[in-house]
Amino acid sequence: MNLNLTGKTALVLGASRGLGLASAIELGREGVNVMIGSPGNERHEQALYQLRESGVTNAQALTIDVRNAAHAQRAIDDTVARFASLDILVNNAGGPPFGAFGAFDDDAWQNAFELSFLSVARFTRLALPHLRRTGEGRVINIISYSVRHAVQGSILSTSMRMGVVGLAKLLSREAGDYGITVNNVAAGMILTDRIRESALKNKFDEGKSEQQGLAELTDEVPLKRLGRPEELGALVAFLASGRASYINGTTIQVDGGLGRALL
Ligand SMILES: NC(=O)c1ccc[n+]([C@@H]2O[C@H](COP(=O)([O-])OP(=O)(O)OC[C@H]3O[C@@H](n4cnc5c(N)ncnc54)[C@H](OP(=O)(O)O)[C@@H]3O)[C@@H](O)[C@H]2O)c1
Repeated sequence: MNLNLTGKTALVLGASRGLGLASAIELGREGVNVMIGSPGNERHEQALYQLRESGVTNAQALTIDVRNAAHAQRAIDDTVARFASLDILVNNAGGPPFGAFGAFDDDAWQNAFELSFLSVARFTRLALPHLRRTGEGRVINIISYSVRHAVQGSILSTSMRMGVVGLAKLLSREAGDYGITVNNVAAGMILTDRIRESALKNKFDEGKSEQQGLAELTDEVPLKRLGRPEELGALVAFLASGRASYINGTTIQVDGGLGRALL
């Protein structure tokens, strides 16, 4: 399917690896100019290399900690200065830690709020004047299937993602006046460093092999495997395109059927 995205510009946050990088690659393959951002510079070279290896010719990287207001303004300004427009904003970052309610103090809640909720509100607000100009701007938030399926230990993440769901729905009603769509992509269990360093590591800590760990993690997934990052990136690229012009204010899961909610 030709998504007709050539020449558009995307700012993809949390994109030095994982779901952000996969989204940047899928957008870049469609001819989108991509600005990727993450807090540390050390992975940028590798990410840009992966983008080039995937056939993406127009990509650059910026140091962006989504919790930092100055970084946010600079990221928007630099993207527009470099590529002359901003058509697509992909809000994404690493998620907050897993654990029981009692494990988290005010600092942990504040960090989760800044990382997973305030960043989305702030970047979207700063991007909106540019997105309005294009007449078909896109805001795509990468969140978790836990907004529809209670995931043990995800209390910090899920509390913030539910806020993003509300924000996206209400914003979609305002931004629609300018042809902007606002949607959430809810990740299930997709094999990235986050899964390797959390769910899979827990299995290793229990003395299980990688094969056993993966089998247990995928037991509840109807497709009996973890997702591949590019399977989520493909949806991001589709939502960014004119082919998805009437999809607005919604949350779409990429979870192999893992979530048990009926709606
Ligand atoms: N993978 C899954 O199965 C899954 C499931 C549900 C939800 N999610 C959510 O989807 C999002 C992406 O997950 P992932 O699996 O791709 O994670 P990941 O592999 O850990 O990658 C996270 C990315 O976010 C960047 N990042 C971390 N802190 C940041 C910050 N403060 N500001 C900007 N960027 C930051 C990281 O940069 P560095 O490389 O510099 O650290 C990295 O590029 C997370 O919010 C996660 O909770 C993922």
